[in-house]
Amino acid sequence: MKSAEIREKFLRFFESKGHTIVPSSPLVPANDPTLLFTNSGMVQFKDVFLGKEHRPYKRATSSQRSVRAGGKHNDLENVGYTARHHTFFEMLGNFSFGDYFKREAIAYAWELLTGVYGLPKEKLWVTVYQDDDEAHDIWAKEIGVPAERIVRIGDNKGAPYASDNFWQMADTGPCGPCSEIFYDHGPAVWGGPPGSPEADGDRYIEIWNLVFMQYDRDASGTLHPLPRPCVDTGMGLERIAAVLQHVHSNYEIDLFQVLIAAAARETGCTDLANPSLRVIADHIRACAFLIVDGVIPGNEGRGYVLRRIVRRALRHGHKLGQSQPFFHRLVADLDRAMGDAYPELRAARDRVAQVLAQEEERFGETLEHGMAILEAALAGGATRLDGETAFKLYDTYGFPLDLTADVCRERGVSVDESGFESAMNRQREQARAAGKFKMAAGLDYDGQSTAFHGYDRLALEGAKVLALYVDGVSVPAMQGGQQGVVVLDNTPFYAESGGQVGDAGELWSADRAVRFAVEDTQKIQAEVFGHHGRLLSGALKVGDTVTAEVDAERRARTVRNHSATHLMHKALREVLGTHVQQKGSLVDPDKTRFDFSHNAPLTDDEVRRIEAIVNREILANAATQARLMGFDEAVKHGAMALFGEKYGDRVRVLDIGTSRELCGGTHVERTGDIGLFKIVSEGGVAAGIRRVEAVTGENALAWVQQLEDTVNEAAAALKAPASELSAKLGQMLEQVKSAEKELARLKSKLAASQGDDLAGQAVEVGGLRVLAASLDGADVKTLRETMDKLKDKLGSAAIVLAGVDGGKVSLIAGVTADATARVKAGELVNFVASQVGGKGGGRPDMAQAGGTEPAKLPQALASVADWVRERV
Ligand code: ALA
Repeated sequence: MKSAEIREKFLRFFESKGHTIVPSSPLVPANDPTLLFTNSGMVQFKDVFLGKEHRPYKRATSSQRSVRAGGKHNDLENVGYTARHHTFFEMLGNFSFGDYFKREAIAYAWELLTGVYGLPKEKLWVTVYQDDDEAHDIWAKEIGVPAERIVRIGDNKGAPYASDNFWQMADTGPCGPCSEIFYDHGPAVWGGPPGSPEADGDRYIEIWNLVFMQYDRDASGTLHPLPRPCVDTGMGLERIAAVLQHVHSNYEIDLFQVLIAAAARETGCTDLANPSLRVIADHIRACAFLIVDGVIPGNEGRGYVLRRIVRRALRHGHKLGQSQPFFHRLVADLDRAMGDAYPELRAARDRVAQVLAQEEERFGETLEHGMAILEAALAGGATRLDGETAFKLYDTYGFPLDLTADVCRERGVSVDESGFESAMNRQREQARAAGKFKMAAGLDYDGQSTAFHGYDRLALEGAKVLALYVDGVSVPAMQGGQQGVVVLDNTPFYAESGGQVGDAGELWSADRAVRFAVEDTQKIQAEVFGHHGRLLSGALKVGDTVTAEVDAERRARTVRNHSATHLMHKALREVLGTHVQQKGSLVDPDKTRFDFSHNAPLTDDEVRRIEAIVNREILANAATQARLMGFDEAVKHGAMALFGEKYGDRVRVLDIGTSRELCGGTHVERTGDIGLFKIVSEGGVAAGIRRVEAVTGENALAWVQQLEDTVNEAAAALKAPASELSAKLGQMLEQVKSAEKELARLKSKLAASQGDDLAGQAVEVGGLRVLAASLDGADVKTLRETMDKLKDKLGSAAIVLAGVDGGKVSLIAGVTADATARVKAGELVNFVASQVGGKGGGRPDMAQAGGTEPAKLPQALASVADWVRERV
């Protein structure tokens, strides 16, 4: 039975049992920061289990694309070396939301396996959670599985509920005891039944997991009963396909055979059993689908997991001798194998290949060098690779640690991971130090930190100067005119972070004799603020007290843009979908610039809808609320956190309108303070990443006014009211078009009449009429038409016509058919062209040329008659 058929039969079976077929959700879970990737079928139903979301159905079934790499359930290092580890797999599942429970779940599973798929009953084993007598009895008494093939599994992983038979999606969320169904591959394969000491062997393979969802686990590990018990099941398509196709390894099923053959074709590897081919075949599935779902290779979070998988595949290609980009070409094969079941893959195919090709190119350059360094380090027969080398490979050559480990493992060499970590931390420290200053480098500071008061006030008296720097060096005092950095114990100035630029403003002494203009505020250390700027007057000393006052106008503009960014982020997800993830932002007094993952340019309609949503929030004029709370609590409250971003224990949760984000920035008091919100540009910045720029408040007004000026100027020039501008413009374009047509008609008419006049200028040379003339302002087309007419008129003739346009001469020569034996048009035109700085050629009866010296044209034309005479 082909994989496609197995998938189809599964869905149809549960449909016949009253289940709604629900499409696979994306690999990036919608708004769920607890999870890196969708790792099973239940992820899209999480809130339904929790009773927080309601769907029009109580039974569902799906084939869910899933990835387990880089987070909980991480299998990356094993992939390719075992029969059943994958980064990407498809999970077939059926779900009950407070409808049926254990009895039906078990009966359905049994009916499908033994009835529809026709598996022999005696080959199936089952497990239940230690004290789940209910499930045990259903299996034993109702289904009739012999007691010796029902195994109870307890908390075999060391902690309460840490068991193979207690399933949980992540550290928090829905969970419950489960019952697993195993297939016995027979005595030819080593291994023992579940729960036995040989359970790790490959003989008894778990094929289906039936989870009886009963609890919601909170961050402290406490289990709270769900509103109603539910069912969540998962069967790996690849595993059941292996069973039904009578093969032992998942890599031998039809789906993988196609991809392995493609990988062999692209790498030139002829040994189809080579594990590297399996790695590549597995990885193309994960990489392609991750990109389909909006992940882009990058240096953090999900993007870095994707990058690691791509690079691992490329390294295995390299191992097979392929040093050119090849991986992206497998996308077409994958599409043929899976595109029917996953239309989203088919639709994104070209973009996916393009993103992969870019990543291949980027890594291709360093892969070779990195491998040479690694080979050299391993050449001495060491059993352990030092952390410094591993880090250098990571930092300079883009080798993810697991890639290096993968190579080492093949040689039986281990990697000093803690050495790698410390090299990494050292570099992070240095980078942090370097990143602290935009304007001055390497400021030495070990004093007290700065207290920030700028959330609710813009001016502060009595701030003490803790340190001063000029040219990056600590100084006791600064003189008027000097540029430098001031560190204060207390400040209302916001230091650049979270995309919001630092404040500007002024520091002054009580008598105003000393004035320091702050141009920017940057953090020197996590909690130490540097006020960068120039001492306008007086002398400023360490220990002085100053009044610090933020440029309120500039701050207000910035704040409007920052708050609008939160509203826009929410609106983007509403309009475009929850795959929209923030990829970067810059908020300054002029605008907000927001980068996010999305595949296509925004349409005018989408832009309008986003603008409408944000402006509606502004008009609602809700008060902003900022609260400090624990990270877990914030996430539970639905705050949008950026994946891969580090947050402290206490986070600041910002409610602006209906948006909720973790943010340390400064914001408006009420949404109404933002004024008008207007998107002013939209474009792509990298494959799969879009950038939107928007303006607010007076910037939006200025933008609209400028637009109005442009329209008014155009209206004035067209002498039409602005409201009729486009109609008028349309009319004018019509007029221009018909005028151009008319002009062309007149030109050719004029040329024709010139042709008539010219015929009279022909001279007789040896029985041939010879004519060489220049036509005022004629283009090549006109020259040709005139030539045709003249040939008709003159009978036996050799003709040269020239047109001059600025510094350019166009030449055309024509000889009537009866005379081409004596005079060749190509030679004739060349003869003339060579005298006016050009060259040309063509057929014996018609030839064309150009020249650059119009001044010499009259003489050149005059020489034509003699030239012909020599030839006839
Ligand atoms: N969610 C369960 C699993 O992944 C069915 O095993």
